[in-house]
This record gives sequence, structure tokens and C-alpha cells, in this order.
Amino acid sequence: MTNTKHKPWLEDALTKRRAFAADPHRPVCHLVPPAGWLNDPNGVIEWRGEYHLFYQHNPLEARWGPPHWGHVVSRDLVHWCDRPVALTPEMEPIDAGGCWSGCAVDDNGIPTLIYTGVEDDHLGEQTTCLAFGDDTLTHWRKFEGNPVLRTPDNLGITRKSYRDPYVWKENGVWYQVVGTSIGGRGQALLYRSRDLRRWDYLDVLIPQAVRDTFDDVCHTWECVNFFALGEQHVLIVSLAADEALSYPVAFVGAFREGQFYPETMQRVDWGYACFYAPLSFEDSRGRRLMWGWLQEQRPIDAQLEAGWSGAMSLPRVLSLENGHLIQQPVMELEQLRTSRTQVAAQQKVSMPHRACELKLSARTSGDLYIADGKGTPLAFLNFDAANNLLSLRPVVPPLERAYPWSCPLEASAETLELHLYLDGSTVELFANGQALSARLYPAATGFRLEWRGDLKALRSFEVWGLEGIY
Ligand code: FRU
Repeated sequence: MTNTKHKPWLEDALTKRRAFAADPHRPVCHLVPPAGWLNDPNGVIEWRGEYHLFYQHNPLEARWGPPHWGHVVSRDLVHWCDRPVALTPEMEPIDAGGCWSGCAVDDNGIPTLIYTGVEDDHLGEQTTCLAFGDDTLTHWRKFEGNPVLRTPDNLGITRKSYRDPYVWKENGVWYQVVGTSIGGRGQALLYRSRDLRRWDYLDVLIPQAVRDTFDDVCHTWECVNFFALGEQHVLIVSLAADEALSYPVAFVGAFREGQFYPETMQRVDWGYACFYAPLSFEDSRGRRLMWGWLQEQRPIDAQLEAGWSGAMSLPRVLSLENGHLIQQPVMELEQLRTSRTQVAAQQKVSMPHRACELKLSARTSGDLYIADGKGTPLAFLNFDAANNLLSLRPVVPPLERAYPWSCPLEASAETLELHLYLDGSTVELFANGQALSARLYPAATGFRLEWRGDLKALRSFEVWGLEGIY
């Protein structure tokens, strides 16, 4: 039982959370806002043995509004506790239009948020701003010298795009990348600083001639992340297409003399207009962890009626294998398992839980049929072994978006190793290191699962009920 003594904000958040207890769409082991709206993950920081995660938040309504920074804390990356809102858009005129996305760093013992200040409304100037936390990360004070960077007017930046600072320290020097659009093409700008307050512009992150060789990666890059992984460097960017915030891609390559030379580009998640704006950081165990926003795939009216919108993905661990980005859910999530069912002969399982986890290993083609607790069909997950393709086909198509969502597996993969989480309306699947996220809206709590394929080729099929994280 969470102790709410002397923490009115926590009591308030828990009261709001309890009000959604009967909503079958609301996940119980994914992070969601107490009420209102959630979009991007913002800073992640480890502080005194706890993980703090911030997120884009509109506490007033279940629709995007002038963004605040919501804040949650966890000891184990699995169970989370609400903290008071960290940033409110009230610094006239710098961030009166919103405290948009950014990151968090430990500046020699001073917890520091580096965020995008947006003037007026979403059409105002975008700048880089700072806020400093107290020792408990409860109260945040905005830097009176904000903004520390303004949108440059000499680089050919188009489309009001200069946002989502991502900052790291290397050999005692701070570096920052910012997502933008130059000459109508997504790019990232690289800066350097000694004190987080004065920044020197270095260059575009990817030499323009190299950038021009990738012509299908959108006019605007949001939420850029740049980091070393093993021997290589990875740049993750989210592609803001005109009709939808569609999906993030990862470039893998070499960082030489202050510029990045991508060799390959790949999808980060094979869902569409769902997993978006991911943020990664390296934890004290040396793991590169990543969260992303699972966008809703239902009309805005349904979101407003529900009273909440948006979920955070489960934390994923990143690695590279032969230049491919590999993702796995963090091991810590195993703590949530309650009941375990080894599905053998009958191939069917009925789970009363709001959330469940499934592991399945299959050698030949087949379908995993997914229905809600009352048997209303939700989706078919098809494994096409001949083409090494995994496809999720919703029974009720979401909005007007392209589907099924298909995830190509490594051509050499002889076995499908599926790891699936169904939690309220969220679907996250991991298959042979690839990830695919979606939203499906069950009419009733619980799930019924059935493998429709060659039984002999099914090597294992295990399902767990999961408990909640608050
Ligand atoms: C990505 C994004 C960011 C921006 C934020 C505003 O989803 O558009 O680029 O900072 O959302 O909420």
C-alpha cells in the first residue's frame, strides 16, 4: 500500500486513478497519466537509487494542450508512483505556449531539466530552456536566463521546427542535439557547452550530402536521440509526417570528427502511428533503456469521454546485433507475473486478467487468435514462416490507418520467438528482437488466446496474468 501521508498530490493522483478502475481500455502495467493526456517520455534520470521519468502531460483534459511535464518515480522500473507536475507553462513569454519535450541530466549534483520552451501557442518560437530541481526532485525552478538557445535564423530552418533537446556529457563537456527541418528535410543540429547555459553551434549532425542520400525520412525530425551503442553510434528520430505522427527510425553508423555517418536505417517499431517519440538513456548498470509513447488509435471524442489518453511503452533494452537494433522488454517486468499457464494440448487459454504476457515459440506458420474476455474477436497475429513475416490484423480497424502492421523477422530466423504483452488497450510484441506496438480496444476485461496452426510445430506456449504497477 502506497503511503500518501503528507503527499496531497499522491492522494489526488491515486483518487483519479481509482476512478478508472472499471475501464477495460485502461492498462494496468503500462504507465498512464492519473487523468488527462500523456504524450512523449521526457527526461529519465537515476537519482539516489530511483528512476525518475517525466512525460508530456495535459492534466486538464484528455487531449493535447499546452504541455506540462508529468513526473513519476520508481525503484525497479516496473512499479511507479506519481510526483507533482514538474513543469507548468507559465514563464511569460518564453514557455507560455508549452513546455515541450526534452531531457534530464545530473549537472554535478543539480538535477536539471532541459526542455523546449514554446512562446504563445504552438506557432510561437521554439527555444531550449533549463529548470533546476531540489534534492528530492519535487520542486523545479526555471532558469531566469531562459532561453539558453533560440531558433537560429541563418541555417535555412523551415516549418517552425527546433525542438526536443537531447543532452549528454563526454569528457567533461556537454553536447546537445536538437531536431529540426532544413530546406524541407529532417535534420539534427549539434551543439557543445561547458555549463549548459552557453552553447556553441558545431554543425548539422549528418553532413548534408549524406543526409540527402536518405530521401524517404520526412521533412521534420522530432525527438532526436544520439548515443554510442557497442562500437557504433545510433541516431533515433521520430518522423512527423503531415497526416500523422507516424513512427521512429534508427540510423546506425559512425561518429567521426564531430559528424555522424549513418550506414543503415531501420524502423524502430513496426506499428503505425502508435509507438512514437522514444527517449533513451543509459542506466547505472550500463543498459541502454528506451520508452516511447503509445498513441491512441481511437477518435478524440472517445478519448475525451474516457477522461484519459496515451500510454507509455514498457521499458525496452537496446542492443545491436550485426548492425541491427534489437529490443527486449526489461527483465524486471517478470516481477509482475502472477498465474502461469503452460498451454499444451488444447491450445486455448482464457485469462480473466486486465493484463497478460505470452511467450510462444513456433516453427511453422500459424495464427494467434486474440479475443477479449467475453470472446469478442480483437485481432489475428499471423506468422508467415515462408516469408519470415509477422502481421497483426485488427478485427475492427483503427481510424483510417494502414494495417495490418507487419514486422519482418530476420531471414535466417527458423523459429518465431514471440513475446507479447496485452494490457487493457495496449499491445506490445517483441519477436526475434523486433518490436511492434498497437492499440486494440476490448469491450470486456480479460483475453482469450488460441494458437491456430500446426500443433507439432508449437515448441512452447506460456501465458501469465500480470498485476498492476501502482
Ligand atoms: C512529439 C512532439 C515533440 C514536441 C511534443 C509536444 O510527439 O511533437 O516534437 O516537443 O510532441 O507535445
